This record gives sequence, C-alpha cells and structure tokens, in this order.
Amino acid sequence: MANAYESQHPLVKHKLTILRNKDTKPKKFRELVREISIMLAYEATQDLAIETVEVETPLVSTEGHVLHEKIGLIPVLRAGLGMVEGVWEMMPGSEVWHIGLFRDERTLKPVEYYNKLPIAPTVKVCIVLDPMLATGGSASATIDILKKWGAKRIKFMGIIAAPEGIKTLQEAHPDVDIYVGVIDDKLNNVGYIVPGLGDAGDRQFGTA
Ligand code: PRP
Ligand code: URA
Repeated sequence: MANAYESQHPLVKHKLTILRNKDTKPKKFRELVREISIMLAYEATQDLAIETVEVETPLVSTEGHVLHEKIGLIPVLRAGLGMVEGVWEMMPGSEVWHIGLFRDERTLKPVEYYNKLPIAPTVKVCIVLDPMLATGGSASATIDILKKWGAKRIKFMGIIAAPEGIKTLQEAHPDVDIYVGVIDDKLNNVGYIVPGLGDAGDRQFGTA
C-alpha cells in the first residue's frame, strides 16, 4: 500500500493557515501555493536517485552529486498550475506535462479535456501536482493516464487532502506515494474538503 505523508513542517502549517483564510486574496493565495509547493517538493523528492560527479571548487577537485533521473512535473489543470513554478525552479531540468481534468459538479467524476503527452514516456519519475485531493477521482484518473503512457514511478503532491481521497488513491494506485501539506477532517455532501480552503482553482485565478 502506498504511503501518505502529511507535512509536519512549522512553515507549512503557518502558510496553510493563511491559505485557508477566506479573506486571503488571489495574489497572496498564489504566492502561498507556490511557497508551500516548494516545501512539499523538498519532502517528496528525498528518495530521488543521484549520481556521483567530480566538481572543481576554486581550491580542489572533489566529489559531488547530480540528479540521475529525468523528472516530469504533471500539473492537473487548472488548480495544479500554481504549484508548477516553484517546484520547477528547484528542478529546472524537469519536463512539464499538463493534464486537463475537471470534476463534474453533479457526479463528482473527473472529465478529461486536455492531454498532449507524446507516444512514449520521456521521463523516469512523474510528480503529479494538484492542490486538492478530495474524492480522489481526479488524481486517480491522472495517474491512470500516466500509467497508460508507460510511466513507471509516480508520486502525488497536494496541499490539502481528505481522508476519503487518500483511501481512494491508495486503493486505485497502491504504488504511488502521496505527499500533502495536511490531511483534513472529511468531505462535505457536495464533495468539498472540510475545513479546506474552498475552490482552489477559483481562489488562485480570481474566478469565484
Ligand atoms: C479540483 C482540484 C482537483 C479536483 C479534486 O479541480 O484541483 O483537480 O478538484 O477533486 P476530486 O479529488 O474529488 O477529484 P476542479 O475540478 O475544481 O477544476 P479546476 O482546477 O479547473 O477548478
Ligand atoms: N476541489 C477544490 O478546489 N476544493 C475542494 O474542497 C474539493 C475539490
């Protein structure tokens, strides 16, 4: 069964509290999504493979390390977009592949609308970026797409998860580790995470 990691970092907790606040405006909200994503990426990438290289310092030649595998960042449109920039700055050699899904408001099932993945996988490790793991339908569907593409190692990174979403994702994809800022209490009767932060896409893009 996949592991689900909830960040215990004080900075993540601090920033999450501002993110949740209903009075936080889109500009600040986007800054926080970016900053929290960088911190979560630090936790989610601890097991990336590295290779040993020689590096010339101004004084001597010494042993150093570089990332060994090509990383793919997979933001789920649209709310996942806000998580890309910060993570990409940390790993500028990554490729970014977008997947477009929205949740049908009536059925809560994901509907795919954008996928331009090339025929064969071009990366060794995929990190799916989506701030909200609610029912888990969107994350599971994204990972289905990546597995059909041929991706072998996949991680999910989110900001807030519901226990229901974690369970669904773990059952659908037991090989995919889950890294989130916080695991909240539950889903409400219209599929929103409680206490949550509302609609992550609307709050980033000012479209509420
Ligand atoms: C949100 C969120 C996830 C999905 C999570 O996207 O960004 O993709 O809901 O819900 P689930 O776990 O129940 O599938 P939304 O459908 O609101 O689309 P948007 O990002 O375009 O606003
Ligand atoms: N998508 C969101 O943006 N927020 C939720 O609480 C659930 C799904």
